[in-house]
Amino acid sequence: MRAVDIIRKKRDGLSLTKQEIEFFIQGVASGEVPDYQISALSMAIYFQHMTEDEMFHLTMAVVEAGDKLDLSSIKGIPVDKHSTGGVGDKVSLILGPLVASAGVPVAKMSGRGLGHTGGTIDKLESIPGFQCELDKETFIEQINDIKVGIISQTGNLAPADKRMYAIRDVTATVENTALIAASVVSKKLAAGNRNIVFDVKVGKGAFMKTEPRALDLAETMVDLVAKAGGKSVAVISQMNQPLGREVGNANEVIEAIETLKNRGPVDLTNLCLALGSQMLIIGGKAETTEEARKILREKLEDGSALEKFKQMLDRQGGDISVIDDYTILKQPTNRLDIMAEKDGWVTALDAMKVGRASNLLGAGRKRKGDDIDHAAGIHLAKKEGDKVEIGDVLCTFMWTNEIADIEAATDRIREAYYVSMEQPQARPVVLRVVE
Ligand code: URA
Repeated sequence: MRAVDIIRKKRDGLSLTKQEIEFFIQGVASGEVPDYQISALSMAIYFQHMTEDEMFHLTMAVVEAGDKLDLSSIKGIPVDKHSTGGVGDKVSLILGPLVASAGVPVAKMSGRGLGHTGGTIDKLESIPGFQCELDKETFIEQINDIKVGIISQTGNLAPADKRMYAIRDVTATVENTALIAASVVSKKLAAGNRNIVFDVKVGKGAFMKTEPRALDLAETMVDLVAKAGGKSVAVISQMNQPLGREVGNANEVIEAIETLKNRGPVDLTNLCLALGSQMLIIGGKAETTEEARKILREKLEDGSALEKFKQMLDRQGGDISVIDDYTILKQPTNRLDIMAEKDGWVTALDAMKVGRASNLLGAGRKRKGDDIDHAAGIHLAKKEGDKVEIGDVLCTFMWTNEIADIEAATDRIREAYYVSMEQPQARPVVLRVVE
C-alpha cells in the first residue's frame, strides 16, 4: 500500500477501506507519512467528504494509533465537554470547575488555538506556573482528589490527530464534517471519555456557518460516540459574534474568573449553564435541566465553583493569587481604542473577523509551532444590540510585541462591526440540543 494511491483514490471521490485508512493513519502517527501527504489527503477529504463508515474507521484508526487513557479508576461518572471551536470561547475554564463543584468529575484534555479560534491550553498557559502536561497517574489522582483537571493532548494520545490538526490549521482544511468529527471524537475516546457533551458552534465565527451544517456535525459526532459504545449530547450554540467581551488569552482568563465569581457576561454564563446542565444529567447528578441549572447557579453564587478553580490551579502549579490579582498575568504594553465612525446600533459583530484581528495582534499562530503573545487580544466594549455614537469606543486592542500587525487588525475589526440605524433583535446563544 502507498499513501499516494490512497490520496489519489480519495481525490477521485472513491471510498477508502478500513485497511487503507488504518495504513495512512499509522503512517501519520509514526512519522512515515510526510506533512505534504497529510495536507493532500486532508484537502481531498475536504472536497470529496467521507461516508459514515469511513468516518468511523478514521476515528478509530486515530484512537488505535496511539496510547489510550484509561479513566476507569476515576470514582463516579466522568463527563467531558468539547467545543468545535469559537472566538472568545473560554467555557472550559469555567465549566470544568463548575460541574466538578456539583460532584461530577471532569477529566479534560484540551487543545491549542486552531485557525481563527482560540484554545483552552493557550489561555491556561497565560497563568504563571500552570502545568498542562501531567502524567496519567498524577492526572487521575488529581481527578479523584478534587474532581477536575485540564491537561493538553499528551505526546502519545491521538498523536495522528495532533499532527493532522496542526497541518489542517495552516492548509485551510479545517471546515469539514468528517475531519472535525473524527478529530474531536478520536481525541475524546483516546482520552478515555465515553460521556461527552459537545458544544457545536454555528455562525460566522464557527467552522460550521449554517445550522444544517452544524446539525450534521452534531449528529455525526453523537453517532460516532454511540458506535464506539459511549453516550453523548450535542448543544448547538451561536457563534456569530464572540462569546463574552474578551478575545485573546490572558484577558479571557480574567473574564472566566469573573464568571466564576458570578459576575460574568450573560451569554457566557448562559452557555455554561446549558452545557453544564447536560453534563450533570449524564453524570447522574440531576434528572432535568431545570434541576441541574438550579444546582449550578447555587455553585456560582456560593463560591464553590471559584473554589474548585482555585484547587485546580493549585494542583497544576498555577499561581492562585491570580484570583484576586489579575496584574500577575502578562500585561499588554500597548492599547489602542477603535472608535465608531457612525451613529446607530451594532447589528452584527463578525466573530471570525474579530478572531482574525486578535490573531494579528499576536494572540494566535500564523504557522504551526509559532509562539503567541499571551497579553494580546481585544476587549469588545460594544457588541450586537449595543447603541453607538460617533467617537464611542467600539473595542480596544491590546498587545506587547512587534509582530503585531496593527494595520491589518484594524482593517479586520472595521469589517467585523456592522452599524446601522435599525435596532437588531436579540439572538439566543443556545439554539438546540441534539441527543
Ligand atoms: N476541534 C478539534 O478538536 N478538531 C477540529 O478539527 C476542529 C475543532
